[in-house]
Amino acid sequence: TGTVTFDPGFMNTAATTSAITYIDGDAGILRYRGYPIEQLAKHSSFLETSYLLIYGNLPTPAELEAFDHRIRRHTLLHEDLKGFFGGFPRDAHPMPVLSSAVSALSTFYQDSLDPFDEEQVELSTVRLMAKLPVIAAYAHKKSIGQPMLYPDNSMNLVENFMRLSFGLPAEPYELNPKLVKALDLLLILHADHEQNCSTSTVRLVGSSNANMFASISAGISALFGPLHGGANEAVLNMLRDIQSTGMQPETFMEKVKNKEDGVKLMGFGHRVYKNYDPRAKIVKATAHEILADLGGNDELLDIAMRLEEKALADDYFIERKLYPNVDFYTGLIYKAMGFPEKMFTVLFAIGRLPGWIAQWREMMQDPQTKIGRPRQLYTGVPERSYPER
Ligand code: CMC
Repeated sequence: TGTVTFDPGFMNTAATTSAITYIDGDAGILRYRGYPIEQLAKHSSFLETSYLLIYGNLPTPAELEAFDHRIRRHTLLHEDLKGFFGGFPRDAHPMPVLSSAVSALSTFYQDSLDPFDEEQVELSTVRLMAKLPVIAAYAHKKSIGQPMLYPDNSMNLVENFMRLSFGLPAEPYELNPKLVKALDLLLILHADHEQNCSTSTVRLVGSSNANMFASISAGISALFGPLHGGANEAVLNMLRDIQSTGMQPETFMEKVKNKEDGVKLMGFGHRVYKNYDPRAKIVKATAHEILADLGGNDELLDIAMRLEEKALADDYFIERKLYPNVDFYTGLIYKAMGFPEKMFTVLFAIGRLPGWIAQWREMMQDPQTKIGRPRQLYTGVPERSYPER
């Protein structure tokens, strides 16, 4: 009742209060629980940042160790859940495999589904943190026809994920510490971003008191889209197309500006940032370093940098305040690490997981929470009578 505000895409509507992440889009500022992203990128780890987002403060060394330990103890997937992977086509995209398997966690862990039972919420939190990277690695292994390894709990979450993604049973897997550190950094940068499309989805689904697995599975589906997390995969495809057709970046930019066939400069633009995305700044700064170390494709990086340079000097982009976002350079790094394009958005999902969990938990504890139920402006036929026949 009362006045209904029309706000498609929620351009101006705050759906919640939140104490987790702060963004100043005009100034290009991002903070988790008050800590600037630049400081976390430099000093923190993905595990510590996850703790910070979920529990509100940086952990003491003992708290961090306990968190790490609990996660390591829950990495194993139920054997029947592993059976799921055999049911999907070989060329399945790993994102729907991931969302399906996370949804299926509700069937395997029926003892931790009550959203208002603190202990159960804690158990679901740890299970998700531990198992999602394992599911992600298995989706990858399935797509390349390789056997799935069991987790090795002497490794932390990121190390285990690398081994499960690239290791083989026939030979010991040697961790590359530079690679682990680079992935850890990228996961920190993706860990939360306030009320983005997937997080809002997690909250909307959770607002019906749906359990954490169901809510986060829905968030993974939202992340899949190319306007959201799927952009990192779309950027690499775009760079590849430009490279393989021998098109000049300038020609591509003309197509974008003329909105030919709806072509966009993927990895550019953001609903909130009207300035350089602070995450993209960090990724760009490290991209050169990491690619030099890992032997990445310099030609694609060159194309990306030329596109950026052209865009930042072009009136079309200046007027619309379009800058590179986090997805512009990450794909190049993932590729250099050995991940296929299809895995890029899955890596985003692993990074965003603690944010989704933190936001879901915050909502469940918030006495202001009501079921999410937007209104509409009806545009259909006012009323008509069913014809007498
Ligand atoms: N290339 C060309 N033009 C663009 C782009 C782009 N990447 N992004 C926005 N525009 C234009 C858009 O066509 C519109 O122009 P006009 O005023 O002439 O109609 C204007 O800029 C405003 O854009 P919008 O689509 O109304 O803005 P939005 O806030 O609704 O959308 C966005 C934000 C991120 C969906 C959009 O910028 C986009 O599609 N970007 C490309 C996809 C992408 O990189 N997504 C990743 C987002 S960041 C991390 C994440 O969430 O995964």
